[in-house]
Formats: sequence, C-alpha cells, structure tokens
Amino acid sequence: MDTENPTICVIGSGYVGLTVGAVMADFGYTVVSVDSDEAKTAHLQRGTLPIFEPGLDELIQKNAAQGRLAFTTDIQGAIRRADIIFIAVGTPSTPEGRVDTGAVEAVARSIGQYVNGPKLVVIKSTVPTGTTERVTRAIAEELARRREGGGHATTEDNAPSAVPADCDVEVASCPEFLRESTALQDFLHPSRVVVGVNSPRAAEVIRRLYAKVNAPFFVTTPINAELIKYTSNAMLALKISFINEIASFCELVGADVQEVARGVALDHRIGPSYLLAGVGFGGSCFPKDTRALDWAAQDLGLEMPIVQAITEVNERQKRGVVHKLRGLLGTLAGTRVAVLGLSYKPNTDDIRDAPSLTVVRDLLAESASVVAYDPQAMRHFRQVFPQTTFTADPYEAVEEAGAAVLLTEWQEFRDLDMARVRRLMRRPVFLDGRNIFDPAAMRALGFQYASIGRV
Ligand code: UGA
Repeated sequence: MDTENPTICVIGSGYVGLTVGAVMADFGYTVVSVDSDEAKTAHLQRGTLPIFEPGLDELIQKNAAQGRLAFTTDIQGAIRRADIIFIAVGTPSTPEGRVDTGAVEAVARSIGQYVNGPKLVVIKSTVPTGTTERVTRAIAEELARRREGGGHATTEDNAPSAVPADCDVEVASCPEFLRESTALQDFLHPSRVVVGVNSPRAAEVIRRLYAKVNAPFFVTTPINAELIKYTSNAMLALKISFINEIASFCELVGADVQEVARGVALDHRIGPSYLLAGVGFGGSCFPKDTRALDWAAQDLGLEMPIVQAITEVNERQKRGVVHKLRGLLGTLAGTRVAVLGLSYKPNTDDIRDAPSLTVVRDLLAESASVVAYDPQAMRHFRQVFPQTTFTADPYEAVEEAGAAVLLTEWQEFRDLDMARVRRLMRRPVFLDGRNIFDPAAMRALGFQYASIGRV
C-alpha cells in the first residue's frame, strides 16, 4: 500500500462522499468516486452535481479537469486501484426508524470480493456501533471464500481471482461531522477529526491524509468513534428540542426565548450554538440518528428517556405550526396558506425530514390550499406534494393569501419588503417559524404576527 501518495476510492456520491472526494483530490491525491447509480454518475462525469451544495461543483469541476478526480460505476476497478477506500454510502432509516446498513454491508462484500492487496478501509457513513467490526468480518469472510476457491471475484478476464498473500485489509471508523450547506468549510475546518482504529498504523495513514486539516486529531477505538457520532448529533438535537420546549414555556409566561437563549449562552459551559428556537429540526441526520440511537438502546434493553424526548418534542414542534395557525385563523378550511421555505434549512435543496413535510401534510388535512415558494427545494417538494401550487417568487406566493408561514430562514426572506407582503396578502396573518422578523416592527406594519417563543 502506497501511504506516501495513496490512490483513493470513495464509494457513495452523496454529500459526504462528494465532499471527501473533492477535497482529497484538491489535496493532490488521485481520487476515484464510485456510485452504483448510473444516471447520477453520468451527470457527475459531465460536471453536474445531483445536489445543491455551495462551492462543491466548482471544486469538483476543477479537480476533474486537472485529472485528479474521476467518477465511475466500476466498483471492482476502483477497489483494485485504491490504497485507501472510503465508504460513504447512505444509511437510511427503515420505516420503523432503525438503520438500514444494507449498502455498507454490500460495499464490504464487494471489497472482500475484489481486494487485491493491502488496503485501508475508512467508514465515513454514520453507522451503528459495531459496524466497523461487522464490515471487517464481512471482508474477511469474502476473502476466505475466495481462498477456498469459491470463485466470487473475477478479474478482467473473468477467471476467479487468486488472493494475494499480502492482502491485509484494516477497517477504520472516521465519522464525518460536516453540515449540508457548509460542507466544504466544515470539512476543511472541523472542530476535530475523530478516528477509530485497531492499529496505530491506520491512525497514522489517516493523520497523513488529513495533514492539511488544522484540527485536534482524536484517536480512539472504532466503537467509541461510532458512538461519538451518534452522541454528537443527539446532543445537538437535544439542545434544539430543549430550547423549543423552553419556547413553549416562554409563550405561556410572556418571556422571549431569544433573550432567554442569549442570556443562557453567555455561560461558556453551555455556549450559544444550536439554541435557535423554531419549527423543529429536520434533515437526513438529526431525526434519523436520534431515532437510531433510541432503537439501539431498546434492542439492548435500555430505556433512554432523554433520547426519546428529543424526537417527541421535535414532532410536537412540527405539529404545533398548524395548531398555532388554527388558533390565529379559527378554521383553515378553504384558506389559501403561503408557505415560505421548504428545505429543512437554508442554502440546501434537501427536504428530507423537513418540517415543511409535516406542515403541508397537516394543512392539506385541514382542507387549506397551499401555495409555496423556496429558492431551491421546490423541485423535490413537488414530487412529494404535487397538489401544492409553486410560485416563481415569494411575493407571488403571498398574493391573496389568508395566512403565511415561514419555515426556512433563507436570506431571500430576510430581505423581503414586508410592507409589500402585507399589501399583497388578503388577510395579514404571518407565522414566523424561525423568528427572523421583529415582532413590534411586523405589528406596526399591520401584520397579525406570531412567532416561536416570543409574544
Ligand atoms: C448535522 C450536524 O450538525 C453535523 O455535524 C453532522 O455531520 C450532520 O448532521 C450529519 O450527521 O451528517 P445538518 O443536518 O447538515 O448537520 O444540519 P444542521 O445545520 O446541523 O441543522 C440541522 C437542523 O437543525 C436544521 O433543520 C436546522 O434548522 C435545525 N436547527 C439548527 C435549529 O432548529 N436550531 C438551531 O439552533 C440549529
């Protein structure tokens, strides 16, 4: 294995895989990015990204043009050429909320089938505790099968491939902490790099790969690394659910959650981050990972009431939007409601587990008609709720509306001419689900204004 100038293979072309591949290529390594989705790979080969992530398309195009980054569906070739293999495939939720690690396991089997020399496998996907060990075992099983002549792996000439004597494959866990919408910045300037390894050598290889990343390098065991990822996400989600719960209390006693959070945040033991009250958290990580941790505990016979409450409070927060609107309007039946913002947060087109999904479902259940605008996410949203009317800009969305609800704090919404919005609406009921406007200023404009945790 060339550890000085390794060739890298990244399996999975989602947010994490594309970012890892692009940055590693930009560091000067040769990177092959693999995905089984042919259409997605064809787009990437032409320089078109399947996701909206600021700055990532330029970085990919630059490194592809300079010959350091290529895209393929040929997993066999990519595995054989690589010294280091990153696994960055999705680990979605099953319908009941457990983690589906099928894609990770399938990749592990492929590695075992095609590996042709010493490699380091680095798991980037968020995976339940014990997965690094299971991946190690799956690779070893496939190798054993090949050694027994099972004929699983084939070389280009389609003959069963012999297993080279020196076929040492170590598997490490290196959870990723980047956020969508700031993926590149987060990858290049993380608060820490966590690596879970079984040998100092593997830690050293990863440390070298991350040489240009200036952050504490935390070396631990694979199982600890896996749990650090879940604990981090659950802790951040907990902060949000907690401040949202305090917001509900604020509304009853006439306090202002933003002021309360500001005062609390001055205690450096608590800190200011993830204390913005709103319509609840969404995305492909917090909801999925807190549910997964809960299931993992239940499977072990352990009750984790705090972890359960994170999800319960978040569900209540999302459902609370339509509840609040009903309180303001009396009935929603037949009301034209403008929904501003569909993505789970600004600067992404991602609507996975977004609060907008719950809100629009609840609005439709109340026989309201929904007119929506989002700068990036309408394409995805249309696939889930085709009965929604989409508009070309936010002003068109609020025209003749009987109420408006803001669900995502896009800059475009902060910049709105609210006097114009007020004039366009049939009834100026405005529910600001992200607390971006000043209540007094909104009321002065003539809005019947409500927000989260502020009176
Ligand atoms: C989250 C974590 O922040 C990343 O560290 C992690 O790597 C990632 O999940 C993952 O596991 O892949 P992400 O889901 O991209 O990142 O987005 P965040 O910016 O953390 O926001 C998540 C949700 O929390 C959004 O819906 C956002 O609106 C909400 N949020 C965030 C609040 O409601 N209040 C806050 O104060 C902060």
